[in-house]
Amino acid sequence: MAWSYSLKNLLTVFGVTILAVGSVESYQCTVQECQNTSCPGNTNVCTASNGCFNQIQQFDTPFPDQVFKRKNCTGDTDTCSGLEFSATLGEQRRFRYVNRCCTSDQCNKDDLTLSQEPAEPNGIQCVAYYSELDSLHIPTSLKCTGTETKCIVAIGTAKGSSDPLSIVMAGMGCATESACNLKMTILNSIDITTYCLNGLPIFPPGSSVPDSTGLRPTSISTVPILVIFLLLKVLF
Ligand SMILES: *[C@@H]1O[C@H](CO)[C@@H](O)[C@H](O)[C@H]1NC(C)=O
Ligand SMILES: *[C@@H]1O[C@H](CO)[C@@H](O)[C@H](O)[C@H]1NC(C)=O
Repeated sequence: MAWSYSLKNLLTVFGVTILAVGSVESYQCTVQECQNTSCPGNTNVCTASNGCFNQIQQFDTPFPDQVFKRKNCTGDTDTCSGLEFSATLGEQRRFRYVNRCCTSDQCNKDDLTLSQEPAEPNGIQCVAYYSELDSLHIPTSLKCTGTETKCIVAIGTAKGSSDPLSIVMAGMGCATESACNLKMTILNSIDITTYCLNGLPIFPPGSSVPDSTGLRPTSISTVPILVIFLLLKVLF
């Protein structure tokens, strides 16, 4: 009697343990973090049960582009969220970001690639501006292309800094809708805050180049106001 009772207990514990272990499926993810062309050929692995992620960030400039790649396991307490966006700002600065999540063995092994196809103008125009607060920059107008149908303002501060004077860049331009209202770290070094504009400094589709009494001076005069507005959002 007592013997069969403890056997039953033992079997129950055993069964519960198998269920608990069996419900957590684990697999290996590729681990890699590299910049520009200096990506290590041999990669490490980590063991995950909460997903692998695969990320590419590219900052196109008139100078050599910066590329940043990251692959790793999603932390046990984190949620991996897929995100893809692009923004074309003033002074020929374009930033593209893709983060993909997957949940099987080595599913993040292959490098993500970004399309090089030139996109067609989509009829939207935005004020374009880019400054690393080094010198005076003049806002221009930019014809948006492809899926970049929103006008964006972005402010970048030094990563992890709460110092209000740690601003490293301010930009405006065209962006995909997924780039609106972000607050995240990019290129492992800059915390960005973004905001999309509804209407205000957008040149209506089909309008001719704004003249001196038209939209353009109005749009330009809104740039400092928008930058200050976003600054307030960053700081508070
Ligand atoms: C991968 O993630 C782990 C855990 O978050 C972290 O300690 C490690 O530095 C990461 N490795 C790379 C190469 O980013
Ligand atoms: C990558 O290129 C950018 C731009 O040329 C440069 O500022 C950065 O230091 C480079 N990073 C590495 C790790 O070489």
